[in-house]
Amino acid sequence: MGEAFDLLAPGVIQDPQPTFAKMRRDAPVHWNESVKGWFVTRYFDVRTVMRDRRFSVEKMSPFADQATGSKQQQIAFLTEILGGWMVFKDPPAHTRLRQVLQGAFMPKPMAALRPQVEAIAAEILDGLGDRTEIDLLSDFAVPLPATVIGDLCGVPRDKVGNLRSWSDDIAKFVLQGRSTPDKYDRSHAALAECVTFYRDLVADHRANPRDNLTSLMIEGGEIGKPLDDDEIVSTLVLILFAGHETTTNLITSGMFTLLQNPDQLALLEGDRLLVPSAVEEFLRAEGPIATIVRLALEDVEIGGQNIKKGDRVFAAIDSAAHDPDVFQNADSVDITRRRNRHMAFGKGIHLCLGAPLARLEGQVAFEALLDRYTDFQLRGPVPFWRDELIARGLRNLPLTVRQRNAT
Ligand code: HEM
Repeated sequence: MGEAFDLLAPGVIQDPQPTFAKMRRDAPVHWNESVKGWFVTRYFDVRTVMRDRRFSVEKMSPFADQATGSKQQQIAFLTEILGGWMVFKDPPAHTRLRQVLQGAFMPKPMAALRPQVEAIAAEILDGLGDRTEIDLLSDFAVPLPATVIGDLCGVPRDKVGNLRSWSDDIAKFVLQGRSTPDKYDRSHAALAECVTFYRDLVADHRANPRDNLTSLMIEGGEIGKPLDDDEIVSTLVLILFAGHETTTNLITSGMFTLLQNPDQLALLEGDRLLVPSAVEEFLRAEGPIATIVRLALEDVEIGGQNIKKGDRVFAAIDSAAHDPDVFQNADSVDITRRRNRHMAFGKGIHLCLGAPLARLEGQVAFEALLDRYTDFQLRGPVPFWRDELIARGLRNLPLTVRQRNAT
């Protein structure tokens, strides 16, 4: 049955929900040949995969083992750094890495960042001057999170451009973009430069401590257990990667969602108090992380299927978000939706550490855009979604806009 669903077919990438609906109905848990793993699509099954300790996130080593020939060395370096990410570690290694940073990412310290994030958003929009044609992705949705993360980690502003291109190239490896044949070369080169940069940054922070995440990791956070240099560098790369591309996609996909639902755009323009629930609805309707991957540590039964020890399991967050058993009018966009139980930030012990920051950035982004502009229109044909299974994001979003204060 599973063979019928080619998740990587261009039509499915552009519009996956009809396929997800068929899967939820006919094959909610199935072995999928196109991804060589089990594909899980119903809300409660997806939640189980994310919460159940019989599924591991330590999936880097099997991947490295599959590599052959000249690519092996490159992949070994990539997996060494990425294998240090907490998101690819099970307890107890995961627990210690997460605890060091946890306090800094709580909603309260994040809320205190609001004026800083607002100032960054205003600065970026000021830089666009009185342009009426913009690409929302490259002109706003990319620089905003990169600058915010740079500030949080103590990266000088003139290096933020480098952060952005490193993050894009690392994404080619992690997210398995199929349209990039030289992906290992580019990811490897980007990661090597990024690691060298972060090593110097850590050395500088050891000599001159500051009030930021890099110094926090050196000091050991509220649990007082300092991370070593390799762990800090690896975690800095993770924060850059996890917090950049995802937030970019939240802003871009959110605006695209509004453009496709003009009644919702008008509603939001008329009532800014709806921005927080609108951001939650963007996270649900077109979540930036489409699928998360786990490895079965033992035989597990889910949805009547026997998943064998060692099998890869893909839990489709974006399908769960449209499950009609949980969400009313699941395929409609409703920015006033209450009790929006989407799982865009995951579930269980790996629940997104940066969720409060992502929410803050998403809210500030839409407030800033709606304050500055009106008459948002898509310029040109409907943009393409990138052909990635793990992340979901548009390739660009060309818009025409009118300045609110324009005569
Ligand atoms: C809209 C934006 C974002 C989305 C949709 C998102 C989504 C996710 C998801 C689904 C996971 C869980 C992955 C899994 O279980 O395998 C995760 C983990 C994580 N995210 Fe985010 N994320 C976003 C923004 C951010 C930001 C801004 C940061 C930090 C600056 C961040 C840092 C992390 C970290 C460190 C983890 C790993 C947590 C752990 O393993 O305990 N994320 N994110």
